[in-house]
Amino acid sequence: MHSNPKLFQTLAEIIESRPERRITFAEYMDLALYHEPYGYYASEWSKIGGAGDFITSPHLSCDFGETLAVQFVEMWEILGRPSPFHLVEMGAGQGLICGDVLQYLRENHRDCLEVLDYAIVEKSPAMRGFQQGRLNPLAAKMGVKLRWCTWEEVGEESIIGCLFSNELVDAFPVHQVVFEGGQLREIYVTVDGEGFAEVSGDLSTEAIADYFDRLGIDWSESHYPEGYRTEVNLAAVDWIDGVAAKLHCGYVLTVDYGYPASRYYAPARDRGTLQCYYRHNYHDNPYLYVGQQDITAHVDFTTLEQRGQARGLETLGRTQQGLFLMALGWGDRLAALSRGENLDISTVLQRREVLHRAIDPLGLGGFGVLVQCKGLDANRRQQSLRGLKTPPML
Ligand SMILES: C[S@@+](CC[C@H](N)C(=O)[O-])C[C@H]1O[C@@H](n2cnc3c(N)ncnc32)[C@H](O)[C@@H]1O
Repeated sequence: MHSNPKLFQTLAEIIESRPERRITFAEYMDLALYHEPYGYYASEWSKIGGAGDFITSPHLSCDFGETLAVQFVEMWEILGRPSPFHLVEMGAGQGLICGDVLQYLRENHRDCLEVLDYAIVEKSPAMRGFQQGRLNPLAAKMGVKLRWCTWEEVGEESIIGCLFSNELVDAFPVHQVVFEGGQLREIYVTVDGEGFAEVSGDLSTEAIADYFDRLGIDWSESHYPEGYRTEVNLAAVDWIDGVAAKLHCGYVLTVDYGYPASRYYAPARDRGTLQCYYRHNYHDNPYLYVGQQDITAHVDFTTLEQRGQARGLETLGRTQQGLFLMALGWGDRLAALSRGENLDISTVLQRREVLHRAIDPLGLGGFGVLVQCKGLDANRRQQSLRGLKTPPML
């Protein structure tokens, strides 16, 4: 499979139309992923899952969404059982988490389901269409309030509940920077013969220098090697600003792969974290399979926390997905499997593998889970969430 020729052509024309015949890497990544109608996410819904390019936790089994639901119910209770209780899911992919949360609530917490107002914010038209086809019949059957809206339509101070995402922030377009000749420069994309090529230039925006200033990284006196390269996710900064503004009272739950800034920007990590996924293989060349492969970068959790704090979001805790799931009863799911009640051996083995994959510290289990809150009085803030507690031993 090669690049999507229409997307390739469109990108080349955009680049040629610019005064310096170049665009930032962030703009390139944004177009490659989200250009309508040819971008990777915009054009097809079937990119995630076994038959797609990569797997996310909800694609392993319904356990992930159900376990998130356990946490949402506790949040609802701590918040004093508000009605309506808002769940805002951003970047819902194929809508699996939503379906699993609704099913779990119907079977276990009808009181919470009755007051639930579930909103999905999804950028990709193809994903949105697929989500609606899958979830609207379910919501109608259950009589649940489920709606789709744009980020702009979510009002300031409007959310009482939880805004959550799984593998959203890693899908935001990132700027790429390189340490050259003793200063920080930016990577731009230009057209060169039959393909794209990179050139370096001055930073396209002061926001990049501000980003590193906030982290206390001083490039002029740095110990970074010549050619050191990394990413800056300015979209994540805008996003967390928006999240803080839209949340009135409740929680922000962010699950993604990433590091604290001290690890992210460690001098030894000199090639950055950019990764491309194509049919369950990964590599680091974003100019291959244009429009046919996913492009991602790890998340700098320190910036989400720091910036969130500056905008009124208090960090309640950061843990790993494996520990988070275990604290919320994953061990019981594994134990139930060992008892093997009413299950044949191949089902038991398959389920066991799936459950282990989601908590494997070298894989999905090593993802970060960040929980922030806003508008909680001291009493509510002190009620620690189950997912952030030390999990019981297996
Ligand atoms: C890696 S997928 C994860 C999907 C899903 N959460 C899961 O766990 O399978 C990223 C999703 O975020 C969506 N997305 C990316 N940027 C977005 C934005 N700014 N607003 C809403 N959705 C966005 C993509 O279209 C895609 O559905």
